[in-house]
Formats: sequence, structure tokens, C-alpha cells
Amino acid sequence: MTIWAILPAAGIGRRMGSITPKQYISVCGTPVLVHSIKRLLAIEEIEQLVVVLQADDTWWSQLNFHDPRMSTTWGGDERFNSVLNGLDAILERAEADDWVLVHDAVRPCVTQADIRKLILELSGHSVGGLLATPIDDTVKQVGVDEHVVGTLDRNGLWSALTPQMFRFELLYKALSNSATKGISVTDEASAIEKLGFKPKIVMGEKSNLKITHEADLIIAESFLSSKGIES
Ligand code: C5P
Repeated sequence: MTIWAILPAAGIGRRMGSITPKQYISVCGTPVLVHSIKRLLAIEEIEQLVVVLQADDTWWSQLNFHDPRMSTTWGGDERFNSVLNGLDAILERAEADDWVLVHDAVRPCVTQADIRKLILELSGHSVGGLLATPIDDTVKQVGVDEHVVGTLDRNGLWSALTPQMFRFELLYKALSNSATKGISVTDEASAIEKLGFKPKIVMGEKSNLKITHEADLIIAESFLSSKGIES
């Protein structure tokens, strides 16, 4: 069974407030995107990694980073459009039941152990699933005027992480469905759920944070330097 990987890296990172897109900011001396690429390429079972870039990206070529198992394509307006473009890039070669791992370029702290665990735990699953962690904080529903309107029962609430891993044909169908109907989904699992399927949860490490705000860079730096960047 072939395993493919898609790395959406076509975001502009509005919330970071930096001129350099967050995937190109250096952590421990290496751009966030390169950390993420290396984590995926360390998994020998991955046949091909497709990095999805912004059409006007001027940073990628400066990295001068090449690997025979890596190719690039252009992204779209939203994350799910970018992932769909990544799937289009392997459409000719992928079989319906092949696995596709989708990983946010801005999650450089994912461990190889978590990626292997995801692959192992889902290998016999018909749909696929995702790394996730249970929510520890009490979660508030907040109204437009910044007053609490309710408290959610945190039992059964999990934060969705990446990689998320689904069968090629089902993922293609799910994301095409979202694109055609104009449903904006922020992860692959949501698109799969909209077709009536139930993705499986695989417990991941909390350190697999998504770099969104400036403070996340400090946490990522501390994690990567303490664990060793190739772990
Ligand atoms: O914006 P957000 O933090 O959710 O982005 C998650 C990942 O999706 C990032 O790696 C970002 O580069 C990518 N993305 C993309 N195409 C977009 C928007 C985001 O590839 N249009």
C-alpha cells in the first residue's frame, strides 16, 4: 500500500503579523517548513511528499532544498483548496485505497513517533483518522460582545492536530464536495465527516503545536532544542 504526503504551505499567516510567512521563519536555525519536511521524509514508507506553495512565493527557491521524494505544486485560496491541488498532483499515480497523510507546514514539532503511531493504528481502518489531543481547559462559548454565553462540557472535546490520514479516493471526494458546495473546512476530517464518515482519533503529543502567534515560536524553539530537532 502506497503512502503519499501533502504539506500545505501556501498560507500567508495573517495572525502572525510578520512580513515573512510563518512557514519560512527560522526556529533553531532552520525554517519551520524545513523542519516539517524533514519529519515527513524521515518516514521511509512515504513514497512522495508534495509541498503546496503560494503562487507568488519568493522564499521557497531561496531554501535550495531538494529531495528525490519531494515535489511542489501551487496552492489555492483556502487550506482545503491547497490540499486538493496537492491531491491533483498525484492523481495520475495514486490508487483509490492508497493512504494520504496531510500535515500543516506550520507544525514543525510533530515527532516521528507520532507519525509512525498514526500510520500503524490506522493501517487496517477503512476511512482513516487524525492525531488529536484531549482539551484540558474549560471551554467557554463567547458572544459577540465578549461576554460568556455558555460553558461546553469538555469531556469528549479534542483538539485536532496533523498529520491526518485518509484513503486517496475518499479524501479527494470529500474535499471536492466541500469545494463544489462552498463549504469552508479547516481540516481534512471535517470534509470526511460531511460525507457521513467517522474518522478515528489517535492520541498525539501536545507539543505538536501549530505556529500561529509569535509566542508559539518560542515554545517551538524550546521544544525542538530540548528534544533534538531530528527526533
Ligand atoms: O491558516 P492556518 O494556520 O490554518 O494554516 C494551516 C496550514 O495550511 C499552513 O501550513 C498554511 O501554510 C496552509 N495553507 C495553505 N493554503 C492556504 C491557507 C493555508 O496551504 N490557502
